[in-house]
Amino acid sequence: MSGSDSALYYGDYLQLGKLLDAQHLESGKNGPPAHDEMLFIIIHQAYELWFKQILWEIDGVLRILDHKVVEEKGLGKATAHLERIVAIQRVLTQQIDVLETMTPLDFLDFRDDLVPASGFQSVQWRLVENKLGMRKHDRHAFEKTSYTSRFTDKDKDRVEATEQHANLFGLIQSWLERTPFVQFGMFDFWEQYRESVDKMLASDEQLIRDNPTLTEAEVAVQVANLKKTSTHFDALFNVERYEELLQKGEVRLSHKALRAALLIHLYRDEPILHLPFRLLHVLVDIDENFTTWRYRHALMAMRMIGTKIGTGGSSGSEYLRKAADNNRVFGDLNNLSTFFIPRSELPVLPDEVKTQLGFYWRPEV
Ligand code: HEM
Repeated sequence: MSGSDSALYYGDYLQLGKLLDAQHLESGKNGPPAHDEMLFIIIHQAYELWFKQILWEIDGVLRILDHKVVEEKGLGKATAHLERIVAIQRVLTQQIDVLETMTPLDFLDFRDDLVPASGFQSVQWRLVENKLGMRKHDRHAFEKTSYTSRFTDKDKDRVEATEQHANLFGLIQSWLERTPFVQFGMFDFWEQYRESVDKMLASDEQLIRDNPTLTEAEVAVQVANLKKTSTHFDALFNVERYEELLQKGEVRLSHKALRAALLIHLYRDEPILHLPFRLLHVLVDIDENFTTWRYRHALMAMRMIGTKIGTGGSSGSEYLRKAADNNRVFGDLNNLSTFFIPRSELPVLPDEVKTQLGFYWRPEV
């Protein structure tokens, strides 16, 4: 049976004619084709298809969040889109195993034919980063040139245009700043939370000082480290101090948004905060999974090319490792655990606040 005007045909629907005719080996142009170049092309194409799906999901989330009021229903959908991205990311990282069936020597059979093309020129990768909310200066710089320096003018314009658009970080921050569940009326949450924090830090210090296995010098080091944690807490309670950290670029999330995120985490067992908690949780998953992919890619590059430079001209795996260390979007959400205190130490919420945070229907007892 072949494609007809009336009945949809598998190959036509998926445009397999185009898709399966899009693997042209560069090595074949100068001599016998290198066997593994087919794998190299297909794996990159598979990545680009998944990047396309990730962008589709991010765009869906941006459309949901880009409103003054985000309904619960929307929040559920946004979380589902983001969870799909996480599932795709697992595939992205696993795919490296397939590529690593190619040995470095096999890669050398066609590597020189690829210069100067490089992953640096993946438009969709940069679109993903920008739509998540990565800013120019968040990236580990490559020879002080712009991250778009390797693009054609057309691609450069397309990527740079997204720097001006709403992105996930910005929309999540605004949503957190607006979140109504963290208004506790007369109940002074922060005062009580601070008392719990002071108690926790004092108890931590006591544990260090009472530890019989530590020398005096080790105690001093550990107490000094604890003081650093306490400095982080100071910033949480002191807006001016927090603003200084923002200015220095040590944090990115606004003070208001950070506090809201913290409350959502601490009281996530309250029904109404559970979905917001899942949303924040999945953002950290996404950030972490891209970091994992970046490290895995850096290790793979090390294995394939050692300390040689990349086809795009960077220092190769060294550049990739530094980018993995550096290029994050939701680091503040990741670091939020600094401010967690045990559930047993959490300020007990007054009944009227608990009612606000619960569902209103109560079973008969
Ligand atoms: C033999 C396999 C590979 C090697 C040796 C390799 C190596 C490199 C190197 C050295 C760079 C830094 C830029 C440069 O100087 O060219 C780079 C960047 C990049 N590569 Fe790969 N790569 C490989 C496979 C892949 C695959 C399968 C993908 C999937 C799309 C990919 C995506 C990227 C991306 C997105 C970048 C830009 C990263 C950034 O700047 O944050 N690479 N690659």
